Amino acid sequence: MTIPASIKNRLTLPAIAAPMFLVSGPDLVIATCKAGVIGSFPAMNARTSTEFADWMTKIIEETGPYAAPYAVNFPLSRMKGGQLDDYFDICRKYRTPIIITSVGNPASIVDEIHDWGGLVFHDVTTVHHAKKAVAAGVDGLILVCAGAGGHAGAATPFALVEQVRAFFDGILIVAGGISTGRAIRAAEVLGADLAYLGTRFIATKEAMAEEDYKNMILQEETQDIVYTNSISGLPANFMRSSLQAVGLDANDLPKPEGPFRPNLPDGITAWKSVWSAGQGVGLIEDSPSTADLVLQMTAEYQSACAMD
Ligand SMILES: Cc1cc2nc3c(=O)[nH]c(=O)nc-3n(C[C@H](O)[C@H](O)[C@H](O)COP(=O)(O)O)c2cc1C
Repeated sequence: MTIPASIKNRLTLPAIAAPMFLVSGPDLVIATCKAGVIGSFPAMNARTSTEFADWMTKIIEETGPYAAPYAVNFPLSRMKGGQLDDYFDICRKYRTPIIITSVGNPASIVDEIHDWGGLVFHDVTTVHHAKKAVAAGVDGLILVCAGAGGHAGAATPFALVEQVRAFFDGILIVAGGISTGRAIRAAEVLGADLAYLGTRFIATKEAMAEEDYKNMILQEETQDIVYTNSISGLPANFMRSSLQAVGLDANDLPKPEGPFRPNLPDGITAWKSVWSAGQGVGLIEDSPSTADLVLQMTAEYQSACAMD
């Protein structure tokens, strides 16, 4: 299965603005979808199920049937108590077109999402996990490759995409340092259907990130990105200046106690006080509106296509 025509016809670029904890909210999703790129947000960015339902209503009302579809992200094993059920019920009610699952096995919810006509895309970083997700029945695999913002894999897309394509003919999505229209085209040439961009969308007017965070994205270079499991308890990329700002030494970070169990000094938390970004920061020099960013990337994409 490639991308259904009902989705493809509504895209100006074959891309998804990836879900980012504390960064992606309704304004970014709406601006992204209206610009013709799939917009997404982590369900947990809405603090309660009531707020989540309000966000969904706003997104659906303001994007309408012709904009690109939106996606909701569920970090399955990180959702507490009945939180997953509560939020999931709301997605069922609104027939959310795309659910992006991460950290956990999506097998138990895939059938239900298909029943309401939705697609399931799942985050993986290795061939082993890609095979498990295919067995769970997902429609799309998101290959989170080296250099991606947030929790990232260690494999280069040049190795991973072709290996996964060899056994998976579903929707293939690739992530890791993609910040330009030319790189989106490169992802397609490698064999992906869609590119997945997080960091590039932090520096946009509609992102919920605070101004200092956006400015740091403009200033930081690729060599400033630190790949470590010390901050969240799983391997992830963070900006060196952000580590320094809270008094952490990138060369001497505390060892985590286990997955999702970092061992940081009091008051320091991943994502909130230590800011994440991928290696694509080295290409980001402005903080435009999402509409302008998509226009600029579309021009870059088209000029790359013209060189085929
Ligand atoms: C600040 C930040 C927060 C993130 N939060 C999430 C999240 O809540 N759920 C998720 O599935 N991925 C999350 N990610 C990963 C992105 O969805 C995506 O895989 C990644 O940003 C792509 O790489 P790029 O940033 O190099 O474009 C986050 C990334 C960043 C930079």
